Formats: sequence, structure tokens, C-alpha cells
Amino acid sequence: MKKAFTVSLSLVCLIFILSNFTVPDVHRFVMMVVGEEPILPIDPYTYDDAEFPEHLFNANNDIGYEGGGRDTFALSQLDNDKATLGRVLFYDKKLSAMEDISCGSCHHQELSFAENKSFSEGVNSDTKRNSMHLNDLGWTNRSGFTWDMRESDLHEMIILPLTDVNEIGANIDDVRIKLEQTTYYSELFSNAYGDADVTEERIVDALVQFITSMTTFNSRFDEQVVSEFDDFTADELLGLELFSNNCNTCHSQGTHTIFGEEFFVDESLFFFFPFIFNNGLPVDPEDAGVGEWDESFSDLFKVPTLRNIELTAPYMHDGRFNTLEEVIDHYSDDVVDNEWTEFIPSGGFNFDDTEKQALLAFLHTLTDNTFGTNPRWSDPFSSTVGIEDLPITELKLAPNPTSDIATISFANHDNHLVSINIFNSSGMLMRHDQFVGGEYQIAKGDFVAGLYTIQLIMGDRKSVQRLIVN
Ligand code: HEC
Ligand code: HEC
Repeated sequence: MKKAFTVSLSLVCLIFILSNFTVPDVHRFVMMVVGEEPILPIDPYTYDDAEFPEHLFNANNDIGYEGGGRDTFALSQLDNDKATLGRVLFYDKKLSAMEDISCGSCHHQELSFAENKSFSEGVNSDTKRNSMHLNDLGWTNRSGFTWDMRESDLHEMIILPLTDVNEIGANIDDVRIKLEQTTYYSELFSNAYGDADVTEERIVDALVQFITSMTTFNSRFDEQVVSEFDDFTADELLGLELFSNNCNTCHSQGTHTIFGEEFFVDESLFFFFPFIFNNGLPVDPEDAGVGEWDESFSDLFKVPTLRNIELTAPYMHDGRFNTLEEVIDHYSDDVVDNEWTEFIPSGGFNFDDTEKQALLAFLHTLTDNTFGTNPRWSDPFSSTVGIEDLPITELKLAPNPTSDIATISFANHDNHLVSINIFNSSGMLMRHDQFVGGEYQIAKGDFVAGLYTIQLIMGDRKSVQRLIVN
């Protein structure tokens, strides 16, 4: 493995050096190489700091959340290097047979890892159901995954999209071989698991680690719980109350009563938390939900967490509602009674306009606004795509190779802010800097001898150069 890595790397260098002498403009070649590699921080991002907030433990019956059984085990097992590997795998199209689709194609960070259309484009056809948001899967409703709760273990769950011919469609043996031949994986697997062996178990485990780290504990709701909702507006307070009285029976976990309703039978304490339910949507002739694999639970679907729900439209298993207003209208006025809807009054809750607005205001407090832009969940390949579009002009890098100071210069007549990223040959980010101007100096003293990739970003222009340090 190590040998393959060195050989392919020296091949790249050789081609580069040859092309340096024979082709006057090596720009395009260099860009292609970089576009395929993830950009990662030198020290991995922190994933293992996902602390389960104290306020979710505290019993405070006045505002409706109690202590109770909780599954925070997965959060305490997070490892930075495993999650880093998971991040690369999640976004890497190499996993798919045609190298054209990744988990990130249907699960978008800015949408809390859902997708903004009812059905996603699979490899051959649209998916049967709405893509699900992936936030807080590490601790909410861990007893089942997918809309029909078919899989009860996240590891087993991941195998589904990975191998589903309409999703990633990976043949695991092909993937293993492909990843073994991909230079950047040997270091990632070694950091995570001690050696560079690529196994199905490790691929799945790393993906689970990455997904488990996606928590939303920075919401306004979480912040306000601590101060007992001091700063909640009148609307938000009314919304909280309406939610507690009407929605909490099913949506407790991941909102404010984390593990359901408390009740006593013969002085023993029980928690009621439904994992699957029916919320009075008209029967879907195309989809029986859990009934697809267990007839006694026809038309029941997973009760998803409502954390970050503002970001994940459209809603329900078939993405039938485009807005939260439509969802609230459904619960208010359009509930179709059936044997399961005993928690909802016949026909719906009949909210008036003030109540509808209050519920909406409350649901918005469940959004963690830092989630969508947190770099630890971002696409490590994305800052390298599209670099061919608009290059930075009059770009010069000299001397190259350098033994002392190399100067990179280019046209920046409008004095844009310029970002510079310098990567070593394994794709690790060695320096990030920002400046205004048309010139930047790189001193050899900061870098060991080798081949470096320099990425410049200026407004919507991007260019890449390679620098050899002697
Ligand atoms: C073609 C689009 C598509 C791709 C690619 C895709 N997914 Fe999904 N994902 C979906 C859809 C649709 C669902 C809901 C499936 C269902 O209910 O039958 C889903 C559900 C899930 C769930 C269950 C969430 C829950 O709350 O129960 C997880 C976890 C998940 N996907 C992870 C992944 C991972 C990891 C990958 C990459 C290996 C991936 N997905 C690739 C569309 C996709
Ligand atoms: C009887 C149980 C039950 C009650 C009560 C209930 N829900 Fe739901 N909720 C569900 C189920 C089950 C689903 C998934 C249904 C589907 O996709 O077929 C769901 C889905 C949702 C969704 C869409 C989730 C997504 O990811 O697309 C939202 C938003 C929602 N409910 C909000 C509410 C609000 C607000 C209330 C109170 C007014 C409420 N629910 C009351 C069971 C319930």
C-alpha cells in the first residue's frame, strides 16, 4: 500500500516536472489533480466535543421535560480521526460505481442534510421517499431508521444507501479496491484505525461516526431552556405551550421532552415514546410505511426529530408539504381520522391564526443556525470544484523550484480580499492566509522540501499553482 502511494505520487511529480518543461501553461493539468483531493485541516476538526447538554437531563416538569432513559452512548464514542474519514467518504463520489453520486448528493449540509425536493434523483430513477435530515440521529429515535424504520441499527442502515443500486450502488469489493488505490485514503484510514486496510466495517463505522457527530445543541431553544425561556417572545411562549399540549405526545424526543411522556403503572415509572405513528395524512396508496414489511403496522411512519425542521422542507415521507405553514394547517384542519389518530382530535386541533403563528415561531426556535456552515460537516471536495471556471489572471510563481523565497503575483486591480491555501502532497492544509494585494511571499523556511499546491481564491476567481521546494 505504502509503495503504491509513493509510486503514484512520484509519477504525478514526474509528469508535473516534465510538463513544466514542455508545456508553457501547466494550469489545467494541475487543477485536475487538485480537484480530486479533499482539503483537510492539518489537525482534524473536533468531533468528540459533542456534549449532551445538561439541560436535557434536568427534570423540570413545569416546562415539560423530564429526565429519563437516554442514549448518549454514541456521542461519547466519537473519535476525531474516524469522523474525519467519514466526512471524506460521505462526500466522495468515488464510492459510486460511475463516480457520479455521493451521500452528499441527496443530503445537503445547509438543509440539515435533507434535500429541497420531494424525491431525490437516484442513479436510475427518483427515490421512493423524501430524503431525510440526518441531524441528531446519534441520540434521537435510535430504535429505527428510514421512514419505515426498517433498520434498527445505524451501521446496518448505512449499508442500504451504500449498496442500493439507485443510491450509491456500490459493490463493496470494488469500493475497497478503489479506495486502496486512492492516495489520500491510506493516511486517513491509518489515522483512524491504525493501519491503511480498507474494510467494509471501517467504511461503515467512519460514516456512522460522521453522522453521529451532527448535533444541533446551539439552537435558540437550547439557549433559552437554561434561562427558563426568559427571552422567548409571547408568540414563542404560546407556541411552546401549544406544542407541549398537542405535539409532544409523538414528537417529544429531540424537541423538549427528550424521552417521551412519563406515566406510572402500579407505582412503576414508564416512559411513553412512540417511534412510529400515523399523523392523519390520507392513506398513501404508493407507500404503507412500516406496513411495507410488517402488515400490522400499515400506514405508520417514523416520527422524525423536529430539531432543525425549519431547514428541511419539503415535509413528510413523500415531501407533500412545501412549508411549515402547510404542515400546521394539516394538523389544524385536515387530519383524516383512523385507528391510530387517537392523540389528535377528530379532524384536527383546530388552531386559530394566532395559535398557528405561535406554533411556527416555536418550531423556528429549534433551528441551530451554526449547523449549516460548521466546517466540520462541510464538503471537503467543494473548495476545489469549479476552479477551471474563472482563473486569476497574470499569475506568476517564481522562482520555481525555490530554495529561498518564492513570490506569487497576479492581477488584483480592484483590491479584492485574497485567500491563499497551501497544501502538502497528501492534500493536508499547511497554511491558510488572507490579504489584500497582488503579491504574496512564501519563505522556504516554513516548509520542508517537497511538492506543494497553492490555491488562490479571489472573489469568484480561483487558480492553482504547484511549487517545488528544494
Ligand atoms: C439518491 C439519494 C440518496 C443518497 C445518494 C443517499 N441517501 Fe440517505 N436517504 C435518502 C432517502 C430518500 C432516505 C429515506 C429512505 C426511506 O425512508 O426509505 C434516506 C435516509 C437516510 C438515513 C435515515 C435517516 C433517519 O432519520 O432514519 C440515513 C442515516 C441516510 N439516509 C444516510 C445516508 C448515507 C450515509 C449515504 C451515503 C452512503 C446516503 N444516505 C445516500 C436518499 C439518499
Ligand atoms: C399522533 C402522533 C403525532 C402528533 C400528535 C404530531 N405528529 Fe408530527 N409527525 C408524526 C408522524 C408519524 C410524522 C411523519 C408522517 C409521514 O411522513 O407520513 C410527522 C411529521 C411531522 C413533520 C414533518 C417532519 C419531516 O421531517 O418531514 C412536522 C413538521 C410535524 N410532524 C410537526 C408536528 C406538529 C407541529 C405537531 C403538533 C401540532 C405534530 N407534528 C403532532 C406524528 C405526530
